[in-house]
Amino acid sequence: MALYALGDMHLSFSVDKPMDIFDPVWKDHEKKIEKYWRKKITPEDTIVLTGDHSWGRNVKECEADFAFIESLPGRKILLRGNHDMFWDTKKTERLNQEFAGRFFFLQNNFAVYEGYALVGTKGYCYEGKDSIEHFLKIRKRETERLRVSFEAAKAAGYEKFLMFLHYPPTTIGEMESPFTRMGEEYGAEQVIYSHCHGKERFDDSFKGEVNGVYYRLVSGDYLKFKPERIL
Ligand SMILES: [Fe+2]
Ligand SMILES: [Fe+2]
Repeated sequence: MALYALGDMHLSFSVDKPMDIFDPVWKDHEKKIEKYWRKKITPEDTIVLTGDHSWGRNVKECEADFAFIESLPGRKILLRGNHDMFWDTKKTERLNQEFAGRFFFLQNNFAVYEGYALVGTKGYCYEGKDSIEHFLKIRKRETERLRVSFEAAKAAGYEKFLMFLHYPPTTIGEMESPFTRMGEEYGAEQVIYSHCHGKERFDDSFKGEVNGVYYRLVSGDYLKFKPERIL
């Protein structure tokens, strides 16, 4: 039994969205995902998919992508990425009912793996695409969601945490953020994130140990689509 993570699959089985225009690593990337996933992951394992699952704009357009994910072995826990338009944040509970036994959607709740609480939210960092006011508003909302996730796990008696974010935990140049501080506050052992695409973005945030927390980047193209073992 093992825990894995992989982010940013950007699947598009039902919409026309070629990814290899960005980098040759994306050529037939769904075939690479399937190959490495089947090589590494057994039905007893768990995988956390850290967002940007599908280019579909709603559940219907994501159906083929969901079917692909479902066909692969293991228990699947999904985090919300900035491109996951199918996921209405107010309807996470409804998604969890609708997809019960297939996927678990991680937001304002937590999952359990071998005595660890898996907590998480989309997160946010500044990328120069919005006003500072908008950035601060979204970041505040995301830190609140992350705290709800930690507190729910704590109330259920969990003391060991693994923290998942879609966005990098810090904005470029930052040495800390509300997300890294919260990870330290609750004693998260690892922080796992994705969202960064292309060589020039892979060093945007922390990798390795910082202040006693181990940070991992698990973007699909960074990992060349090989799921990363977390535990
Ligand atoms: Fe992405
Ligand atoms: Fe993203």
